Amino acid sequence: MRIVSSAAEMTALSKSAHRAGKSIGFVPTMGALHQGHLSLVRAARDQADVVVVSIFVNPAQFGPTEDFAKYPRSLKTDSAMLEAENSDHLFYPSVEEMYPKDADTWVTVEALSQKLDGQSRPGHFRGVTTVVAKLFNIVQPDFAFFGQKDAAQVAIVTKMTRDLNFDVQIVVCPIVREADGLAMSSRNAYLSAAQRRQATVLSRSLTRVQSLAKQGEHDAATLIAAARQVMAEEPSIKLDYFEIVSPTTLDPVSDISNGALVAVAAYVGTTRLIDNLLLPTSR
Ligand code: PAF
Repeated sequence: MRIVSSAAEMTALSKSAHRAGKSIGFVPTMGALHQGHLSLVRAARDQADVVVVSIFVNPAQFGPTEDFAKYPRSLKTDSAMLEAENSDHLFYPSVEEMYPKDADTWVTVEALSQKLDGQSRPGHFRGVTTVVAKLFNIVQPDFAFFGQKDAAQVAIVTKMTRDLNFDVQIVVCPIVREADGLAMSSRNAYLSAAQRRQATVLSRSLTRVQSLAKQGEHDAATLIAAARQVMAEEPSIKLDYFEIVSPTTLDPVSDISNGALVAVAAYVGTTRLIDNLLLPTSR
């Protein structure tokens, strides 16, 4: 696996792969890789000829009081994991390479970026779409792989790709969970043993909604109330939001019969975790 830190070199490698008739599968990450990321890399390996993974802890998507400085960085372990998955190139740029001093252009998906996580993380999605647009231009992928765990990010990146005519197919891969249901996340590393146990309440709240929906409960307000009751079983966890929305517009729905995204975000200590569930249409 080649580790590339220059954007120009990355683009040259992608252009030469395309000239040779090869397709490129791209997995953008911020590193601290876990099985969730590796499932994306495997999907890319299955679908494309050349697999490019990026590791870039993107300062533009962290708020001033968020965890940019302490975000886990583990290049050595990450690159060994990517080697083991037969990735072809690791794009590992510096902050200066991605954001030269005079950079002054932002990419924003206006309305969607204000919803779900956008409400409590102002500017977060503007940082995500800006860096993903830049990475798409640099890596020039045919397919880009994103995890369903960041459901709002999926909706926003999909919209940006359409709105800006990027010639990239967005592939969304299922959430990978620990044995006890906790969705895998690089931020799980911040949790103490006690918090790690408490954090399972997020997936339990979603499971409760899923089972009520299967029993025929379609009213979103009733489902949210039931989920909030489950969340209340862990009083030390501070709920940020529990919403039932359209997976594409991220607007709240009052009835889940046409399918819905059930999304939760909560603070376990100072660690903000998210999780979600896609309910299928029942019509
Ligand atoms: O999902 C992430 O890890 C990041 O938001 C992404 C897509 C790599 C952009 O920095």
